[in-house]
Amino acid sequence: MFRFGFIGFGKMAKAIWKGLISEGFASPNEAAFYTPNASSQFAVQAEFNLRFLPISQLARECSVLFFCVKPQRIHEVLELLLPPLEHKPLCISILAGTPLQTFKEALPDCPIVRVMPNTPATLKKGMTALCYTKDTPSQQVHYAKQIFEQCGKVVEVSESQMDTVTGLSGSGPAFLYQFANMMIAEAEKSGMDPVSSLLLAGQTLVGAGEMLLQSHKSPADLIADVCSPNGTTEAGLNEWKHLDIDAKLASVFKTTILRSEALGKPLS
Ligand SMILES: NC(=O)c1ccc[n+]([C@@H]2O[C@H](COP(=O)([O-])OP(=O)(O)OC[C@H]3O[C@@H](n4cnc5c(N)ncnc54)[C@H](OP(=O)(O)O)[C@@H]3O)[C@@H](O)[C@H]2O)c1
Repeated sequence: MFRFGFIGFGKMAKAIWKGLISEGFASPNEAAFYTPNASSQFAVQAEFNLRFLPISQLARECSVLFFCVKPQRIHEVLELLLPPLEHKPLCISILAGTPLQTFKEALPDCPIVRVMPNTPATLKKGMTALCYTKDTPSQQVHYAKQIFEQCGKVVEVSESQMDTVTGLSGSGPAFLYQFANMMIAEAEKSGMDPVSSLLLAGQTLVGAGEMLLQSHKSPADLIADVCSPNGTTEAGLNEWKHLDIDAKLASVFKTTILRSEALGKPLS
């Protein structure tokens, strides 16, 4: 038996696996994976030294099964997992939108945990939100939390909040990278070298994130701390308000949540 099995081993699965191995919580000989394409099978074996198994064997031989495919692929994956898994593995879904019920119907006897992680898991700086089916035993929930604590912080939420979580922390890194990309591009247009502009933007994101978490101040108070009357930040924020950037960013956030909700709807 393997401790961990990954069905799909793309960007997010790799980030989780890097979090799990970075301080020895897991090692390559304890995990196996399945992906359909030969080229990615070779690439995963070469980079991570994990064992490749056909999907039905993987499902039978792993104590924890991570479902790491795109939501559009999950029904074909679950169909391959019939008949029932006698050993009742802990099933952990990282899929955006896809409800616990989809897994419950296909794997009625298995404990099921749904998580929304994010890619900073690769540096153990991830944020994972987690919910689970009513009949999942508490020690399995505890184990799932322990797994994702290797990748950063974990918070338990109700399943109804998972689409919001997807917009906030699941997709959130991409929105911050987009913001950083704009700042870096503007700095470079002003003649700054790429290394310095990356450092200035990246460390500013890190520092601002730590201030949000540690200062016990609201975002509005932290903004006020940066602004002086008639100063540079105030000038920039006046333009921000004039262009109604908040409304535009809110629309980006809402669109992400709606997409997550749509992914959870049954296929017509
Ligand atoms: N990326 C993120 O930041 C992030 C954050 C939170 C949650 N998620 C969720 O994580 C899931 C995976 O996203 P990703 O970004 O990691 O996608 P990805 O990089 O495209 O990886 C998808 C993986 O699924 C495999 N796959 C495709 N069809 C399959 C099948 N029929 N059976 C088994 N495996 C199959 C692919 O294998 P091949 O390479 O062989 O095709 C690949 O390894 C999504 O549901 C997404 O909502 C992603």
